[in-house]
Amino acid sequence: MGADGGGQTRAGMISGMEIRPARPEDYDSVVAVVDDWWGRPIAGVLPRLFFDHFHRTSLIATMDGTLAGFLVGILSPSEPAEAYIHFVGVAPAARGTGLGRVLYERFFDLARADGRTRIGAITSPVNAGSIAFHQRMGFAVRGPVEAYDGPGKDMMVFSRPLSR
Ligand SMILES: CC(C)(COP(=O)(O)OP(=O)(O)OC[C@H]1O[C@@H](n2cnc3c(N)ncnc32)[C@H](O)[C@@H]1OP(=O)(O)O)[C@@H](O)C(=O)NCCC(=O)NCCS
Repeated sequence: MGADGGGQTRAGMISGMEIRPARPEDYDSVVAVVDDWWGRPIAGVLPRLFFDHFHRTSLIATMDGTLAGFLVGILSPSEPAEAYIHFVGVAPAARGTGLGRVLYERFFDLARADGRTRIGAITSPVNAGSIAFHQRMGFAVRGPVEAYDGPGKDMMVFSRPLSR
C-alpha cells in the first residue's frame, strides 16, 4: 500500500462506509465515545472548539450511519507549510481494516491541495499502538520529548514530509 496517498484500502472499499467533512454538531457523538475508544480518560484533550472552528479540515467516517472513525486536522494558520493532526480515532470493531490509513490519506490530500508540505502530530509515550500506526504512515518519531506539553507531560513527536 502506498504511504503517500491515493492507495485504495480495504476500509475505502467496504460498502456502507462513508467519509465526509466533519460538522460542528458531530462533536457530541465523538466526545461520547473517545474515552471508550482510547481505553482511558481522554475527552479533556478534545474541547468543542475543534469542531466549531476546524470542522472543514476534519473528517467523520460512518458505517451504515454509525460513527466508525474521525480525524481532527488543522491547516496551520501561522505556519503556511504545515498541517497538523490533533486527533484520530477508529472504533475498536473497525480497527485493522485500513480506516485509519484512509482518514490520514484523505487529510494528506486536503493538506497537499492547500500547498502544505509537512504534517505533524503528537501522542503520549504510553500509546504504543499510535506510535506504530504513525511509523507505518511514514512519520519520523522523536521522543519522548520531556515536558513537551508542560511539566510532567512528555510526548512523542511525529513529522512527515508531504510530497506533491
Ligand atoms: C491508531 C488507530 C487510529 C489506527 O487505526 P486503524 O484503522 O486500526 O489503522 P489501519 O488499519 O489503517 O492501519 C494502518 C497501518 O498501521 C498499522 N497499525 C495500526 N495500528 C497498529 C497497532 N496498534 N500496532 C501496530 N501497527 C498498527 C497497520 O498494521 C497498518 O499498516 P499497513 O497499512 O502498512 O499494513 C486506532 O488503533 C485507534 O483509534 N486507536 C485508539 C485511539 C488512538 O490512539 N489514536 C491515535 C492518537 S491521537
